[in-house]
Amino acid sequence: MTRIVTLIVLSILATAALMQTMGCGETGSAQVRAAQEVYVPPGEHDRYYAFLSGGQSGSVFVVGIPSGRLIREIPVFEPRAAYGYAVHPNDPRRRELESTGGAWGDTHHPAPSETNGVYDGRYLWINDLANGRLARVRLDVFETDRILKIPNLQGAHGIAVVSPNTKYIGVNGEFEQPTDGLATNPAPYTSVVAFVDPESMQVKFEVRVNGNIDIADSSKDGRYFFATVYNLEQGKDMGGMIQFDRDALAAIDIAAAEKAVAEGKGVVRNGVPILDPENVPGVLTLIPVPKNPHGVNVTPDGRYAIASGKLSPTVTIVDVKTLKIVAEPEVGLGPLHTTFDDRGNAFTSLFLDSQVVKWNIDKAVAGTSDYIVDRINVHYNIGHLQAAGGETMKPHGDFLLALNKLSKDQYLPVGPDMPEAQELIDISGEKMRMLAAFPTPPEPHDAVFMAASLLKSKVKQVFDLGADSVKEGGESVVRTGPDAVTVNMTMIRSAYTPETIEVREGDHVTFRMTNVETIRDMTHGFALPDHGLNVSLPPGATKEITIETPKPGVYWFYCTNFCSALHLEMRGRLVVQPKDGPVKITDWRAGQNVAGLQVPGVPSTEKSNGR
Ligand code: CUA
Repeated sequence: MTRIVTLIVLSILATAALMQTMGCGETGSAQVRAAQEVYVPPGEHDRYYAFLSGGQSGSVFVVGIPSGRLIREIPVFEPRAAYGYAVHPNDPRRRELESTGGAWGDTHHPAPSETNGVYDGRYLWINDLANGRLARVRLDVFETDRILKIPNLQGAHGIAVVSPNTKYIGVNGEFEQPTDGLATNPAPYTSVVAFVDPESMQVKFEVRVNGNIDIADSSKDGRYFFATVYNLEQGKDMGGMIQFDRDALAAIDIAAAEKAVAEGKGVVRNGVPILDPENVPGVLTLIPVPKNPHGVNVTPDGRYAIASGKLSPTVTIVDVKTLKIVAEPEVGLGPLHTTFDDRGNAFTSLFLDSQVVKWNIDKAVAGTSDYIVDRINVHYNIGHLQAAGGETMKPHGDFLLALNKLSKDQYLPVGPDMPEAQELIDISGEKMRMLAAFPTPPEPHDAVFMAASLLKSKVKQVFDLGADSVKEGGESVVRTGPDAVTVNMTMIRSAYTPETIEVREGDHVTFRMTNVETIRDMTHGFALPDHGLNVSLPPGATKEITIETPKPGVYWFYCTNFCSALHLEMRGRLVVQPKDGPVKITDWRAGQNVAGLQVPGVPSTEKSNGR
């Protein structure tokens, strides 16, 4: 008993001493409390995945919340050797990138699939502003799944899933174009919102809008697709874009658009029917909001769409049923985006004030003067912000991420260009509390949270061995033509089968490779020096790639993912014989078969998963 009392006294003294060394007083204790709230001990998991758009890195970055630990990069629009993604010019993913706009992208807005108005953990879509594309990421494997080049649209900016059951993904074209795509057309430029089917990833129809279509959201019942529109002037330069006092919040009636398309009222261009609202009344409603608005966000209860003023210190609150403006409260300088808690509060990012402002939606609509609840400073120039579940019908009301455009003096200097950063804010109480800051690679725009409890159980342990997989014992090297060879290869700790492949100079060599491991995380790589080749095969994965052989020689392929004590020895040879050399490649298997070979020093259970 005495010992316990002594321990308690000692720990109180130790805490007091720690607080004193921190400069203490109230700030010190607040910092200790914040540190405890974001600390996730080694070996324990975070409560949320946060998916951050990676801007011109072309990726999606996955961060654990509240710790801020970077746990994965999902390459989307850019090759990434670290994941063996789209590295070789003949890699199917690389070819898809090249054929749809190039091997780089500018990702801005992650949009997860929804069922009944909440995230279902199936897919996440992300835009490529630079090349007018939309990509789909599978959340069971955290890999890019499909990439779509959207016809008739330039500058794919705001995207949103049509709630509550992901009927479409709407994509806004921000860069206005001549309607027929030809520079000789004297008519004012316009743009389109594209509606993409979530499963087939095909554009079902497009709706023409005059102006630059910016940020998107949908009504919670799926009736309207909202988009902020600036440059209703249809100007082609900065001066021309800021003439009018008011631009618009566009509301597209989705059912009316579907009906018009079914009646053949669309003009088909590049295979997609485009509806022109001038010829199809009722499809598009333009709600006037202060000029050059930015974000639009629908409240979790679906009652209001809130457009942020950007150049105006106000937000415009629109009743979703009537499409009428019900209030336009002042919130601060440079309002860009709004997110929500589960208690009727909105949180708006203020770019010029470098603040998050918390305000009460009902009070703002009622016009009472005390609608502002709290303000908190961020460092610096916030763009997007997102509260956990803030885009869904069930916000969590605990954490908010402020995605700051600049960090200035917040981190160790790394040259003239400084890191970008986010700040994590506790929104569970009346007052907001700053918890932590962490940098990520350039340049994050937006983020969404997904509860670990939702996603963890859906994440696959291994890929399913498909019909196209190479089976153990079924490996072969087959000459399929005068200058073509197919290698059917398996890999398992820690060997390739076959491990020697002889070809002739000028051969096209197709590698069909299956990682036959059945244990999570047993990923093998396949890198071939001087051939620009690195692929990565998680357990169960099959990949195929064709390469051209360069000059004769011996090329060691090797494993780029650490896999066992014999990882360094996981190698094989591509032997390229001279064109007119003596080598006849016929039956590799008759000459050599390393499958089932006991590797010295490795227990057979580890080598073969006990099979
Ligand atoms: Cu396989 Cu390292």
